[in-house]
Amino acid sequence: MTFLFNSDARRGHVFQQAFARELPDLPFSMDPTSVDPDAVRYLITWTVPDDLPRYRNLEVLFSIGAGIDQFDTTNVPDHVKVVRMVEDGITRMMQEYVTLGVLALHRNLPSYLSQQHRQVWNALPQVQAAERRIGVLGLGNLGQAVLERLKPFGFVLSGWSRNQRELEGVTCFAGEAGLHAMLSTTDIVICLLPLTDETRGFLNVDLFEKLPQGASLVHVGRGPQLVSEDLLAALDSGRLAGAVIDVTDPEPLPTGHPFWNHDRILLTPHIASVTQPHSAARTVIDNIKRIRAGLDPFGLVDRRRGY
Ligand code: GLV
Repeated sequence: MTFLFNSDARRGHVFQQAFARELPDLPFSMDPTSVDPDAVRYLITWTVPDDLPRYRNLEVLFSIGAGIDQFDTTNVPDHVKVVRMVEDGITRMMQEYVTLGVLALHRNLPSYLSQQHRQVWNALPQVQAAERRIGVLGLGNLGQAVLERLKPFGFVLSGWSRNQRELEGVTCFAGEAGLHAMLSTTDIVICLLPLTDETRGFLNVDLFEKLPQGASLVHVGRGPQLVSEDLLAALDSGRLAGAVIDVTDPEPLPTGHPFWNHDRILLTPHIASVTQPHSAARTVIDNIKRIRAGLDPFGLVDRRRGY
C-alpha cells in the first residue's frame, strides 16, 4: 500500500515528513518510475497522468488544488474516490484576496490608479459599506469563508448557490430565479463557482445586464467561466465599473490581450489562493485516516455533479 505524490518536490518533501510522522505504516513515494504500480492506493496530483490505468489498485485520487476541473476523469474507474483540496491555507488566502478585491473596487482603486497615472488629484464620491451590496456566486467552503471575512466591514451580503443555503447575516438565493434576484441587487459580484459544463461562459453579457449600472466583478473562479469580450464591452460601455481578475483563459494570458492594459481591470496571475503544503498535508493525512475509518473524506467529489 503506497501513497504516490505526483507534484513539485518542494511540497513533496513537506508531505513526506508529515506522512512519516503521522502515517508511518503507509509507504510514501515521489517517484512514479520506481514505485510498484500495484501498490499505489492513493495518488495526489494536479492532472490525471495518462498512465493512470497502470495503478490497478488505486482507491483515492486527490487533487493538489482546490478544483478538479483540470482532471480528465475518463480514465478514472468509477469506484475511485476523487477528492478536492479543502485546506486552511487555500481558504485563508482566498479570504485575503477577495477582501483585497472587494475593498479595491469599493474604494474606487481602478479610478484612482488611472488618475495617478494622469497626475489628477480628484476625490470621487464614496459609497459607504452599509450601502454596498456584495454578492457571492458559489456558496461552497470558499464562498462561505469569504462572506465570513467580509462581515466586519458592514457590507450588505448575499450569496447564490445551486441548492438553497442558510447562512447567518447573508441573504441566500438559489436557482435561476434566485440568480436574477441576487444580481439585480448586487454592486460587487464575486465568482467562486466551480468550473463545470453549466458554469463555462457563465460570466457573460446576459449576467452583466442583470447587474445594476456601474457594478463590478471579482473573478476568482476559473478562466473559462468569463467571456472576455463581454467583460470588455461591459466595461467600455460603463455598464460595469471595474473588475479584479485572477483567472484567465488561457493562462498565462497572452501578450497583447486587452486585459493587460485596461484601466478598469486589476489583473493578477492566478495567485489568489495556492495550496499550502503544511496545512494541505495535514488535510490529506486526516482524510486518509477518515477513509481508513470508513468515513467520507472532506472534499469528496460528486463525480456526476463535477465538483
Ligand atoms: C487553484 O486555483 C487551485 O485549484 O488550488
